[in-house]
Amino acid sequence: MKQDMILILDLGSDENPRLAREIRSLGVYSEIHPHDISQPALSALPNVKGIILNGGPNRVVDGVEIDAGAHVYNGSLPVLLVDHKGEKPWPVQEKERKEAISRFIFDTCGAKANWNMENFIADQVELIRQQVGSKKVLLALSGGVDSSVVAALLIRAVGKQLTCVHVNHGLLRKGEPEQVIQVFRDQMDANLIYVDAADRFLDKLAGVADPEAKRKIIGTEFIRVFEEEARKLEGIAFLGQGTIYPDIIESGTKTVKAVKSHHNVGGLPEDLNFELVEPLKMLFKDEVRQCGKALGLPDSMVYRQPFPGPGLGVRCLGAITRDRLEAVRESDAILREEFHNAGLEGKVWQYFTIVPDFKSVGVRDGKRADEWPVIIRAVNTVDAMTATVEELSFAFLQKVTERITHEVAGVNRVLYDLTPKPTGTIEWE
Ligand code: XMP
Repeated sequence: MKQDMILILDLGSDENPRLAREIRSLGVYSEIHPHDISQPALSALPNVKGIILNGGPNRVVDGVEIDAGAHVYNGSLPVLLVDHKGEKPWPVQEKERKEAISRFIFDTCGAKANWNMENFIADQVELIRQQVGSKKVLLALSGGVDSSVVAALLIRAVGKQLTCVHVNHGLLRKGEPEQVIQVFRDQMDANLIYVDAADRFLDKLAGVADPEAKRKIIGTEFIRVFEEEARKLEGIAFLGQGTIYPDIIESGTKTVKAVKSHHNVGGLPEDLNFELVEPLKMLFKDEVRQCGKALGLPDSMVYRQPFPGPGLGVRCLGAITRDRLEAVRESDAILREEFHNAGLEGKVWQYFTIVPDFKSVGVRDGKRADEWPVIIRAVNTVDAMTATVEELSFAFLQKVTERITHEVAGVNRVLYDLTPKPTGTIEWE
């Protein structure tokens, strides 16, 4: 293993993710583990140079009295106790805190600053090979950041032992399936099964107007399609997962053991019996992006904006029709192109278009014509719990309006949604 590690034992402090990030920012790899990690599990962790106990040595966590970690480290590793009276975060001052951590990890533990993406990738390649051996791995490759980076890492580690399945549910953005095929099949020479299931999804969704019912159909059908593909393949023992650190860490007082149910595999039947491979589970989102870049993925994939699982399905309001869905897809493509041209890409958190299920009267080729409006949404947020509206310039909005009303069939008006969250949500349904 190439990287040294500082272990944070979780006594329930919600500061732990920040502490791990602080240590990583000093160039030393750090992971958070439950306070009651067993001695064998601790011994299995590579290159641990020291332990930080954060949250109070004698605090009761889950009914367990902690004795300064002595039960786990047996005196063989340096231990730093943080916030040991459990009164306030320690040390309060940013600079002081960083210095204290730095002294501990470098002077006391003798850790080396060798945490970087090349070493992370080299270590993960070794760990994946150890775990997988000569067996086969399956991965649902959506084209989102996390699944794409996992795919690239697994390809680097086990090559053709990996099979990626890309399900096109017909609700992807313009150019997305093509990009997945181009990057993974053409560029990285991956085993990629492309399933065009658009008709199947759209048939199931026909006439369904309730947003939650739409989400449920899309989610269930996705698992069915993936499962059908999995059953066609022989000898798959592992399932790759794009689980990342924030999926695992529960903020607040729960320890790391409180792992969220993984949304991607929630519905897979037990008899498929896969073991999970989750090589990104210790990375924060920005580190996942760095990893993707280091593995040669294009910026447009690594820095793409968040995109909901049900895709354009929740932006084609009410019961989805193919013509309105095309209007969403085409207007979204125009908006994204204009964001790119204006240098706004990456500066705004999420931007997209919505097409409601009503028409208004307008004039087309000198005649009255009833057509749909397109709504533009562009928001900034930190955690998606609240959001503010991006102040797009009037000239920019005029340009986008001009293009959408001329290039997108069936659209005669463009509206800009000025509503922050709350009271609006980011998506419209
Ligand atoms: P709202 O609309 O709740 O959205 O303000 C917050 C963030 O969540 C995304 N979103 C979803 N993501 N499945 C997803 O994977 C969904 O059903 C879903 N609904 C909303 C939304 O795009 C925004 O980033």
